[in-house]
Amino acid sequence: MRKWIILAVLLGGAPAALADERLPPITNEAVKKECGACHMAFQPQFLPQRSWRKMMDGLSDHFGEDASLPEATRLEIAAYLEANAGDVSGSREGRKFVKSIAADQSPMRITEVPRWVGEHRGEVRESAWSDPRVRSKANCVACHRGADSGWYDDD
Ligand code: HEC
Ligand code: HEC
Repeated sequence: MRKWIILAVLLGGAPAALADERLPPITNEAVKKECGACHMAFQPQFLPQRSWRKMMDGLSDHFGEDASLPEATRLEIAAYLEANAGDVSGSREGRKFVKSIAADQSPMRITEVPRWVGEHRGEVRESAWSDPRVRSKANCVACHRGADSGWYDDD
């Protein structure tokens, strides 16, 4: 009897192939709190290390906002983002994102990464981006309800 229950639990979980499509949830508390204060905390796998380094070196002018942090917190967050960046994390989706970026480019926006642009081209009506429920391409959770926990493949 017990065996069957365990089997049911295993089958109920995400199959390996699906689990692979999920981006690992952010585990660092400082990242969740500080980088989730104004928008969803974006998964570091979407950008390469060089992008995070550049972003974390310029927080006083972060897309027009002052997102400065105490130095110890800034260093902790930068270390986490760089350790989990798409070019080093081992995430399949992350690798594809980073591969689509030219080697001499360090984009600050996930929404400007060629793979992001390609994944959304033709998938979303142009007018949807300015819908009041969306407002910004960076508002991932408006369309991907599981974005905050790493799910984007939600047809
Ligand atoms: C004071 C508010 C604020 C805080 C704190 C903040 N951000 Fe932002 N962030 C913004 C704004 C505003 C934008 C531009 C949003 C838009 O275009 O809709 C942005 C955009 C971004 C983008 C680009 C999104 C895209 O278009 O792909 C990334 C990546 C990002 N932030 C990362 C971070 C990280 C990492 C942290 C923590 C160190 C952080 N943010 C903390 C306000 C903030
Ligand atoms: C206006 C709605 C909308 C917004 C906002 C949006 N997306 Fe998407 N996204 C889609 C649609 C539609 C697709 C294609 C269908 C699908 O695969 O879910 C897609 C596909 C994707 C995929 C490919 C999923 C797969 O494996 O097929 C990723 C990754 C993704 N989006 C990430 C993001 C991220 C990160 C953000 C925020 C920075 C974002 N999206 C913002 C609508 C949106």
